[in-house]
Amino acid sequence: MGSMIRLDKFLAEMGEGSRSQVKEMVRKGRVQVNSQTVKESNEKVDPAQDLIQVDERIISYAAKEYYLLNKPQGVVSATEDRIHPTVVSLLTQARRSDLFPVGRLDIDTEGLLLITNDGDLAHRLLSPKKHVDKTYYAEISGSLPGDSQEQMERGLLLEDGTKTRPARLTILEPLEEKGRSGDGFAPSFTRVTLTIQEGKFHQVKRMFEALGCRVTYLKRISMGPLILDDDLAPGQSRPLTEEELEKLMDVSAGEVR
Ligand code: URA
Repeated sequence: MGSMIRLDKFLAEMGEGSRSQVKEMVRKGRVQVNSQTVKESNEKVDPAQDLIQVDERIISYAAKEYYLLNKPQGVVSATEDRIHPTVVSLLTQARRSDLFPVGRLDIDTEGLLLITNDGDLAHRLLSPKKHVDKTYYAEISGSLPGDSQEQMERGLLLEDGTKTRPARLTILEPLEEKGRSGDGFAPSFTRVTLTIQEGKFHQVKRMFEALGCRVTYLKRISMGPLILDDDLAPGQSRPLTEEELEKLMDVSAGEVR
């Protein structure tokens, strides 16, 4: 048997409306539990057992949801914002109303973002003790110092005095064609990937600043066992697979490195 929760809480979590809207729906006799119209929104239900309907539409139960989003630029990593669209608003398949992003990407950063309502998992994944690898693809204007890889590996001192943990820098082949950030014919930028295990504010940009360079394009391509699909366009999302979820649970439990 599952656990019992208040009917209004259940309906609000399933995205049927705010608590007060849901209470109003109950008062108007629009909500049935096991085919009986209920009048009290504080009634306890077992979402795994009871048949819950609004206007005769069955409200099926999703306890935890996990989505991988390819975050586009111009969207904020938050659940609410007055000015910009949020990452949560992009999830077309989401059922629950209590989803939130696990960590943040800057407004102008693209790429992999995990969105869930699993607070325990989020907490464990973001814990600095877990050392979950996050890999970014970046385009850098200006040229990198010759010893960039060693500096990244040793750990850098950021402008505010924080020291970064060792990070792995890979320098990619230059592209022949004009880059996203380039405005000339010859590529005036360097393409790299950088793997870090932390998530300090603007960390990747600040690490390159510490080397005297500027990030002009940034995209997260992996986080722990999650890898951004090539065919998931910016703005698109998909549920995690069972296998991804298992691996994520293993990583955050500390069983797998
Ligand atoms: N580092 C940054 O500077 N920005 C991001 O969005 C993520 C990592």
